[in-house]
Amino acid sequence: MSPVPSLAEAVRQRVSDALAAVLPEAAGADPLLRRSDRADLQANGMLALAKRLKGNPRELAGRVVGEVATEGLIGDIEVSGPGFLNITLTDEAILRTLMARAGDERLGVPVAERPGTVVIDYSQPNVAKEMHVGHLRSTVIGDALTRILEFRGEKVVRRNHVGDWGTQFGMLTQYLIEHPHELDHQGSEESGGAAMSRLNRLYRDSRAVFDSDPEFKERARRRVVELQAGDAETMALWQRIVDESKIYFNAIYQRLDVLLTDDDLVGESAYNDDLEAMARELEDSGVGVRSDGALCVFFDDVKGPDDQPVPLIVRKADGGFGYAATDLAAIRNRVGALHADTLLYVVDARQALHFRMVFETARRAGWLPEGVAHHLPFGTVLGKDGKPFKTRSGETVRLMDLLDEAVERASEVVASKAPDLSAAEVAERATDVGIGAVKYADLSTSRARDYVFDLDRMVSLNGDTSVYLQYAYARIQSILRKAAERDAAAAPHPELPLAPAERALGLQLDGFGETLASVAETYEPHKLAAYLYGLASHFTTFYDQCPVLAAPEPAMVANRLFLCELTARTLREGMALLGIHTPERL
Ligand code: ARG
Repeated sequence: MSPVPSLAEAVRQRVSDALAAVLPEAAGADPLLRRSDRADLQANGMLALAKRLKGNPRELAGRVVGEVATEGLIGDIEVSGPGFLNITLTDEAILRTLMARAGDERLGVPVAERPGTVVIDYSQPNVAKEMHVGHLRSTVIGDALTRILEFRGEKVVRRNHVGDWGTQFGMLTQYLIEHPHELDHQGSEESGGAAMSRLNRLYRDSRAVFDSDPEFKERARRRVVELQAGDAETMALWQRIVDESKIYFNAIYQRLDVLLTDDDLVGESAYNDDLEAMARELEDSGVGVRSDGALCVFFDDVKGPDDQPVPLIVRKADGGFGYAATDLAAIRNRVGALHADTLLYVVDARQALHFRMVFETARRAGWLPEGVAHHLPFGTVLGKDGKPFKTRSGETVRLMDLLDEAVERASEVVASKAPDLSAAEVAERATDVGIGAVKYADLSTSRARDYVFDLDRMVSLNGDTSVYLQYAYARIQSILRKAAERDAAAAPHPELPLAPAERALGLQLDGFGETLASVAETYEPHKLAAYLYGLASHFTTFYDQCPVLAAPEPAMVANRLFLCELTARTLREGMALLGIHTPERL
């Protein structure tokens, strides 16, 4: 495994060395390199620097040009405009860097400089309830971030913080005591859908009694106390409900092909035994104060519409703990016991205030060092009408139905493109295409934005979709298979001049590692999606402009096959990091 510095990094180093040589005060200054249309790279750093040192930017740039070591990397460097540097790389440098990437199983991508332990909280559906599109977003984004951070060498601990605790479990378990057969299986069906139907029925039936019968309501309330005290019978019933939900969650996770397993499932209930001590510590330290019997934390800048302070309620006046309490206990556990350097929470943007208050409370209590916890908010999934995504009758859309429909649409696309495939072949590819489409549509939108759930667009062959990327990959595989039939091998020829489309593709290929570094720094997977879309687009242009197997001479064929191969590997790796398959044939 040997990391390959990108061409941009190599140039940055050379320009910065030259800068330090002509102007010792500028040692360590960033030459501010960007991709440019005028040349391969443009350095803008001379402008601000000259201004700061009261010099002339054009003159400074000119002296830097005279000092830059160009050999083996830079073909042309010149001053332009008010003092930019336009830099063109040599074709040979591009190919040699790509050769180094091709020779490394990680494509030359370095690991993080100081890898640490990241605890990532994602998916987090609620027990006994259907998952909704918000949980879909959290699951897909969290899973991609896990893969990317692991690839960067971080130790990633997944925490599926399921909602498996709270007052509704008093109602559900009490109802089960009074109706012991409610969750019994009809027949032997063990599908996620069957489990969810049983839970839906339990939820609906117990809710109906709860709302209409005050005595049941009181029994349910007492049951919560039993549950929180760990009463064995109540716990056993609660466990049945959790297990039933797990069947359903796992069916969804399997369908989505995400990394989550039962080991990652550490729900709100897992912190029950810590809540008492956590609350005492908060109260003893004065971070939490009693207000109308409840244990609260106040913030200067959090006020309600009436300008009254809105506290974070850690413990209710009746002694019950809520959502905030489990999150606080989880922080203590993740930082204290799991030794996390970074805590990530992939949760709906509407919970931003909750996390702000929870993080600030944990910080005041001394449980959370500054800069460790990050809420990664995401936007809402909308219907075509621009309103939050619902069925026509206004109910939440069942996730499994949605995924099935995506695969169904994908199979139409796959079958229309390759009419000679067998039904089994169509089905297999349709899963990769349909699930990939749903994931990609989510991951290619910047996290915080809302997006419209539109299956027609998601499975479209044109535009920024996973199918487009999957087709680019499959097309390359088909070229490589043809090449193998003709005994044409892929081999780089760094002495050959590159056509414009080859250069552009080569430069894009070189940017993979930098893209991943930036995704890992900002936790924004859409940057990887955008990079891959750019890569597929550059490949399409290359393929249109540069015949591969029909290139005029064998060395050129070999060189272009080399570019094809590296593009395919980069696409496959990049898509895999988003959690999306790239079938060999489509
Ligand atoms: N279960 C919650 C919901 O469905 C999300 C939990 C988010 N994670 C957390 N640590 N609070 O809205």
